[in-house]
Amino acid sequence: MRILVTGGAGYIGSHTSVELLNENYDVVVLDNLSNSCEEALNRVKNITGKSLEFYKADILNKQDIHDIFSRHKIDAVIHFAGLKAVGESVGIPLKYFHNNITGTLNLLEVMDDFNVKNIVFSSSATVYGDPASLPIKEDFPLSATNPYGRTKLMIEEILQDLYVSDNRWNIALLRYFNPVGAHESGQIGEDPEGIPNNLVPYISKVAVGLLDKVNVFGNDYDTSDGTGVRDYIHVKDLAIGHIKTLPKLFTKPGVVIYNLGTGQGYSVLEMIKGFEKTSGKEISYKIADRRPGDIAACFADPLKAKKELNWQAVKTLDDMCKDTWRWQKNNPDGYQK
Ligand code: NAD
Ligand code: UFG
Repeated sequence: MRILVTGGAGYIGSHTSVELLNENYDVVVLDNLSNSCEEALNRVKNITGKSLEFYKADILNKQDIHDIFSRHKIDAVIHFAGLKAVGESVGIPLKYFHNNITGTLNLLEVMDDFNVKNIVFSSSATVYGDPASLPIKEDFPLSATNPYGRTKLMIEEILQDLYVSDNRWNIALLRYFNPVGAHESGQIGEDPEGIPNNLVPYISKVAVGLLDKVNVFGNDYDTSDGTGVRDYIHVKDLAIGHIKTLPKLFTKPGVVIYNLGTGQGYSVLEMIKGFEKTSGKEISYKIADRRPGDIAACFADPLKAKKELNWQAVKTLDDMCKDTWRWQKNNPDGYQK
């Protein structure tokens, strides 16, 4: 079985490529390296002792995609490629709509041309907006609060319409909660450009001394300690969620939707404490204003994925902190792209 991994040089894509190779899938990666570098793929090969095909290519260029499908018989696509910074998407929405939506349309058109109708799509818990209750189940109402989230919601809808038009398509919409952590080898991990937007990369840069202190965005939420609560999921668990989805896709299920989360929420202060414990470093922080657009709490009901995919997250908060810290310590400048 040969899997095309769009965005495969990125954070989640590189970890998923490792697990695909470990399971003896053939892997073809398409990535324009706009938010990643080829070194991540060298390390994927290093970790697995296996090779993969890499194309520096853009999903905005239909010919690029066409050439890859001409060269390789693809059985399914895992589609990670996209822009993902929520704040940036508010300032440059057209770039987000163009890259994420036009890029996905190009990909789907080429897949259709080559009669490859199996796709796993990276969606996000952001499609639930501010949920009315917790934990979040897959049939909760959907909404978008920013252009990035809207691209996820629109692509989900596009894929559902596509299935209605042609029920030979098999489509898995995977809604990730908050991916964190790194491969246990310390060789691959998250490598954000500049100052991180997300909590865990920010904490690890404070721990390693590259940033001064964590700004805790609000301590007056209706949560156990007043700080925001999220469902942090280890990236390796998330990657394995994709591996478990592929056999399901090959049973021709039509459209399936799964939350990929742990079901457990942790507050910002709990994450800081957890990281202090595993790193042995003191993490300075200060309480700052709420970040516009943030919600108080968000965590998954992951039971559907457990029942239908036989998948559940197994890594602990300690694993998440330990693996993030190993990656950060070994690679203070990331991949030095
Ligand atoms: P990432 O930025 O590390 O990976 C995305 C990859 O896509 C990058 O390597 C980038 O170079 C590539 N890419 C972007 N536009 C492209 C284009 N036009 N053509 C070819 N390649 C392109 O991000 P990630 O954290 O690995 O996220 C992967 C997917 O999961 C994204 O679709 C993201 O929206 C989604 N997601 C991420 C999170 C998260 O918190 N990390 C949460 C929910 C969903
Ligand atoms: N936070 C801080 N300080 C920081 C960064 C974050 O206090 O410097 C807080 C936030 O207020 C929030 C929590 O830490 O309470 C987590 O924030 P992140 O930015 O790490 O993650 P979000 O939950 O805001 O969003 C992430 C991704 C989105 C995705 C969403 C759901 O960035 O793309 O998870 O999957 F949609």
